[in-house]
Amino acid sequence: MSYNFSEKIKKLKSTLNLRRTISLVWSVAPKWTAISLLMVVLESGLFFASLYFLKILIDKLAMRTPATDHLLVYYVLAAGLSAILYAVSKAISSFTTEVQASKVSEYIDDKIHASAIELDLSFYESPAYFDILRRAREAGPDRPNAVITNLVETIKNSMMLLALGSVLLTIDWFLLPLLVLFVLPTMLVRIFFAGKLHALRVKQTSLERKSLYLSGLITSDTSAKEIRILRLGVYLRDMYLNIRLNLLSEKLNIGRKSTINEIVTTVLATAGFFACIGYIAHGVVTGKTSVGDITLFLVVFPQSFAQMQSLSASISRLYQNNIFVTSIFELFDLKPNIADNEGTMSVPDETLDIEIKNVDFIYPHSQQPALSNINIHIPPGKIIAIVGLNGAGKSTLIKLLSRLYDPTAGSITLNGVDIKKFNLTDYHKQVSVVFQDFGRYNFTVNDNIKFGNIDGEHSEEAIVEAAKHSGAHGYIKDFPDGYKTMMGRLFDDGHEVSIGQWQKLAIARALYSPAQLLILDEATSALDALSEREFFQSFRQRIGQRAALVISHRVSSVEHADYIYVISNGKVTQSGTHQELLKMKGDYALLFNKDVVKSDPA
Ligand SMILES: Nc1ncnc2c1ncn2[C@@H]1O[C@H](COP(=O)(O)OP(=O)(O)OP(=O)(O)O)[C@@H](O)[C@H]1O
Ligand SMILES: [Mg+2]
Repeated sequence: MSYNFSEKIKKLKSTLNLRRTISLVWSVAPKWTAISLLMVVLESGLFFASLYFLKILIDKLAMRTPATDHLLVYYVLAAGLSAILYAVSKAISSFTTEVQASKVSEYIDDKIHASAIELDLSFYESPAYFDILRRAREAGPDRPNAVITNLVETIKNSMMLLALGSVLLTIDWFLLPLLVLFVLPTMLVRIFFAGKLHALRVKQTSLERKSLYLSGLITSDTSAKEIRILRLGVYLRDMYLNIRLNLLSEKLNIGRKSTINEIVTTVLATAGFFACIGYIAHGVVTGKTSVGDITLFLVVFPQSFAQMQSLSASISRLYQNNIFVTSIFELFDLKPNIADNEGTMSVPDETLDIEIKNVDFIYPHSQQPALSNINIHIPPGKIIAIVGLNGAGKSTLIKLLSRLYDPTAGSITLNGVDIKKFNLTDYHKQVSVVFQDFGRYNFTVNDNIKFGNIDGEHSEEAIVEAAKHSGAHGYIKDFPDGYKTMMGRLFDDGHEVSIGQWQKLAIARALYSPAQLLILDEATSALDALSEREFFQSFRQRIGQRAALVISHRVSSVEHADYIYVISNGKVTQSGTHQELLKMKGDYALLFNKDVVKSDPA
């Protein structure tokens, strides 16, 4: 039982995250956080001083004698000066808080990106990850700082309430607990509904994402063509609207209940407020309370009541924002499965001999093996080809070779050493891939090619050279701005090109990299026959002593390879040279030999 209780406390602490939020904010902007806190203390102190001098002034006025009258002006001056300084410090305080808040907010925004980049590809297979990412994004980078601001607000309001409360105590001590009793239910109701809204937010994240996806489809440039021809617009719009209405009705349901509760508790608090006035009036009637007290009461009690409400509001805001921060920490706490671990080896600066040994692979969230017992050798200076039907496992093998995933069983070695032992960034520098679904970057031509070796030294000559080999130079040279031309149509002066032309740019990017292993996954699928032939004619000379892996459905791309592996249903079923494989009359001959296809249509 006691174990359960301490577990619950632990859970509560971890959801509250207050200490973690404070240390995060402090670590990002210690100077500005310290200044902001100091300003808040100063502000509260000046507020208290102004109130104090006012109280002394009233006391002195009540007991005035001609001999002390000249002192009154000093009290007026002291109260006035404190009030002016209070106003000034309030303005400065709001500026320092703004600076501090923006520093923290920029940091969080960047940290969200850093987490998204650090996590390996397996996270991008998981809807749960996208939910977490969405909630962190929705929470917004301002939340952690909002928590600190709320915390400071809470302290400030407590201090001010303390100042007012001490004056109130001089009238009747009973008023203070009464005040707490009236305002407490409002605060509890707000906290309760903040928790309910958070639970709903978690529940709705998937549907929220679905609605975002639909909105993206309706408004994106890539789907614009099909949506028009397939007449999908109205269908998608209705689906979006239905989801949004459902989400809204659930939110409004909680909103309605929370409003009813808020009304009840506010009515209670206001009734309590007037009950206190009645209580004091009764004291005056019975002679227990002086008229001076009721004057002071009428000045201080409404202020205390308002202050108490501000305190309750700042505590509930603190609670709400803190819940949002939990979503951000949820993302920060995700750890990659494949990471750049310290103590790993550097990849040797020499030619690479790669071996895939007895490799099995099952995708996360999948039961079926995508690859089983794969053995492939990729020696330096050789072109190795992989062929196979759709879904055979070719691209999956590329993901393992480029260490976007690790094999479920078996290993991939580089010069005899398991690639897991190498520093990940270092290893990635040695692998250059043109993916089947390559990237089209709305950047300049130069940038599109430079991305192949982002942290290397760049030379215009090498960029043009890579573009010439991929065939991209042929159209780039006709652009008025040449290699400075902006690609894509997202930005001003952007040039849209054909899919084949984009693919040539992607090949240029891969060729620009000095990596020792070059992988082309259907990289020439959109190239015209002439361009493809020209590309492969100079390919062997281009790679030199580097290793190359080519995946293609076209015989023209693989027939000149040094060695070819045929993959079928995740297994290597055949291997050999083009001529050897044709003679075997197996899967390869079925794929590429027209005569066999004719004689065996199955
Ligand atoms: N992200 C994924 N999660 C789960 N299964 C996947 C994933 N990607 C691919 N698969 C499955 O793994 C198998 C191999 O897919 P892969 O993309 O490697 O095929 P491929 O040989 O490259 O096909 P294609 O010629 O169409 O490009 C297929 O059965 C596919 O459904
Ligand atoms: Mg593929």
